[in-house]
Amino acid sequence: MTSYPLQCAVIGNPIAHSRSPEIHHAFAKQCGLALQYQRLLANDNDFSDHVRGFFAQGGRGLNVTVPFKEKAFALADVISPRAQQAGAINTLWMQDGQLHGCNTDGIGLVQDLIRLGFDPKQQRVLLIGAGGAARGVLLPLIEAGVKQLRVVNRTAAKAQQLISPLAHTTSALEAGGLDNTQGIWDIVINATSSSLQARHPLDVPLSFSSQALAYDMVYGAQPTPFMQSCLQQGASHSADGLGMLVGQAAESFAIWHGQRPDPAPVLTFLRQQLE
Ligand code: ATR
Repeated sequence: MTSYPLQCAVIGNPIAHSRSPEIHHAFAKQCGLALQYQRLLANDNDFSDHVRGFFAQGGRGLNVTVPFKEKAFALADVISPRAQQAGAINTLWMQDGQLHGCNTDGIGLVQDLIRLGFDPKQQRVLLIGAGGAARGVLLPLIEAGVKQLRVVNRTAAKAQQLISPLAHTTSALEAGGLDNTQGIWDIVINATSSSLQARHPLDVPLSFSSQALAYDMVYGAQPTPFMQSCLQQGASHSADGLGMLVGQAAESFAIWHGQRPDPAPVLTFLRQQLE
């Protein structure tokens, strides 16, 4: 009997830069699965047709990236609690005729923090930013058992809005503006898009504990300006978001294929490619 490769894809716009095919093909090799993972370019007006067509043709799993995570949320029939809180979906699959969606971005971040030796459990965490990237990681950080989680944002009201649906679930959550960073932090996470804008670097005063991590969700060949500024201000370690990218992919892979790949060798390979 012929066995056909499993079909998976990532959908977004732009999409040519996406590393997801390489990551998932490497995971599939590790796990001995035959997988074809492609990039799908969609537009606002044909996103849902692409999604329906992909699953109608027997697609196993679809990753959703910028700018369609909220559209995927609106399209799914069954939505996981993490995606519900995030208001966004990055992982879709079909089960019993229903379109299921979840969000693996936050768990990818938490797993990467653990890999780096900074388990957020009982830690004081400062999360900078209140856009989609911050929203996606809020609940997983709370679930990881942080002692304190302060969300600060250039527009302070947006930080307050972000935490308000979860504020009753934990006393660890606080919100403020970029002038509310006072305190000693074990982990500081940059979830703003500032590292992508050379002309507007994020400039906030920070105090770190003796073993502290500065984490930028953005990744690249060089340490970001945020990472450099934190190291100058006393952070003992810094990391970019490449590990989060591989971590969220590993979680999607596990959901679709029921096998958990090892992110470490894939991360090493991607890092070498960036250099
Ligand atoms: P994403 O989906 O990447 O989170 P977004 O929803 O547009 O993108 O959110 C961008 C985030 O980066 C916001 O928190 C934004 O702050 P405002 O809400 O005040 O706009 C933040 N941001 C972008 N550029 C910034 C800069 N130069 N300094 C500080 N914060 C910045």
